[in-house]
Amino acid sequence: MLKGKHIVLGITGGIAAYKSAYLLRLLIKAGAEVQVVMTPSAKEFITPVTLSALSGKPVVSEFFTANTGEWHSHVDLGLWADAMVIAPATASTIGKMANGVADNMLVTTYLSAKAPVFVAPAMDLDMMAHPSTCRNLQLLKSYGNHIIEPAVGELASHLVGKGRMEEPENIVKALEAFFAKQKTLSGKKVLVTAGPTYEKIDPVRFIGNYSSGKMGYAIAEEAASRGAEVTLVSGPVDIKVSGRGINVVKVESARQMLEACEAHFGDSDIAVMCAAVADYAPAHSSDKKIKREGHDAPVIELVKNPDIAKTLGGAKRPGQILVGFALETDHEETNAQGKLASKHLDMIVLNSLRDAGAGFGTDTNKVTIYTADGRALPFSMKSKAEVAGDILDTIETL
Ligand code: CTP
Repeated sequence: MLKGKHIVLGITGGIAAYKSAYLLRLLIKAGAEVQVVMTPSAKEFITPVTLSALSGKPVVSEFFTANTGEWHSHVDLGLWADAMVIAPATASTIGKMANGVADNMLVTTYLSAKAPVFVAPAMDLDMMAHPSTCRNLQLLKSYGNHIIEPAVGELASHLVGKGRMEEPENIVKALEAFFAKQKTLSGKKVLVTAGPTYEKIDPVRFIGNYSSGKMGYAIAEEAASRGAEVTLVSGPVDIKVSGRGINVVKVESARQMLEACEAHFGDSDIAVMCAAVADYAPAHSSDKKIKREGHDAPVIELVKNPDIAKTLGGAKRPGQILVGFALETDHEETNAQGKLASKHLDMIVLNSLRDAGAGFGTDTNKVTIYTADGRALPFSMKSKAEVAGDILDTIETL
């Protein structure tokens, strides 16, 4: 899988740098061409001689070679790379990458790289848990970088906790899995709705629901990683999209969500309606805050919101695939099958609120997928990213 791939291996100044030599050897054995870029402090932990001997290429560390003045172009390196792997990544380098502090060859190469970036942090457990590190890693994720989470175990400090750089074999596996993923949706346009809708009562109040948007964002990211061009119509949520190829359209109300969907559905090959759309909105919303005085028990009159999935189902042209969700508390299968038919869906993803770990706000989900061609596919409890994979695998069978 890595044969012929151009990999920039960034090494920073941490004890785990000694493992980078082994990682480099594994990459070379797998057939990759590897260019090592070291930070100045990485050289305190492992010598460039070892790494150039293993990679068969001079190690790059400075912007130019001192005695010849030869310029090392971080731009060329960034464009050459099919992937960049920073292992180990210290808290300092992670902070520089997150904030664009390009004061060494490694970070400038990172900022120039168009290829996917994999980051394998390694540090002491307290550094790893510090809010600054957590925030910086979150920023890297939001740029679409892949974080190879450190393992829990004994650290160089002899303390035991999370911070050990993932083993070189597993870093290679993560790269292989990435390259193994076929770009099965390349050339396809995918529309995804996510999150709740807010229906305005007055400038400070709304009717909404507990949807976190995590499932819809995971589907958008998975579709983009399979090569699709994704439009994500998102209600108000607190998630930053990670991954390239996702156009986020932020909306608030069900009516705005419908408008955005109608603008993009015509062009779409696949539409996945994951949003928890409010079924009702206040008939009138006030521009001024409704005051307590003089309103003992106000009654808010509601009107029905448009059914976005059903509207798109009615406008579907041959070849378009429309997928819905059903979140149920009882009569799950009957309700899901009913929605599959009445909204003219090709597939519906059922989650039952009776399953612990499924539904709103959690990082996991447990779903059963029903297809219009009569299949019922139960899945076990998985992370929402894995569930997104199952959903897209099933869509691909349609
Ligand atoms: N949906 C939609 N527009 C709405 C309501 C729901 O597009 N106004 C979509 C959801 O995104 C989901 C599917 O329809 O894909 C089912 O949503 P759900 O809330 O489970 O069903 P409802 O049709 O609203 O039925 P009920 O609330 O009575 O269960």
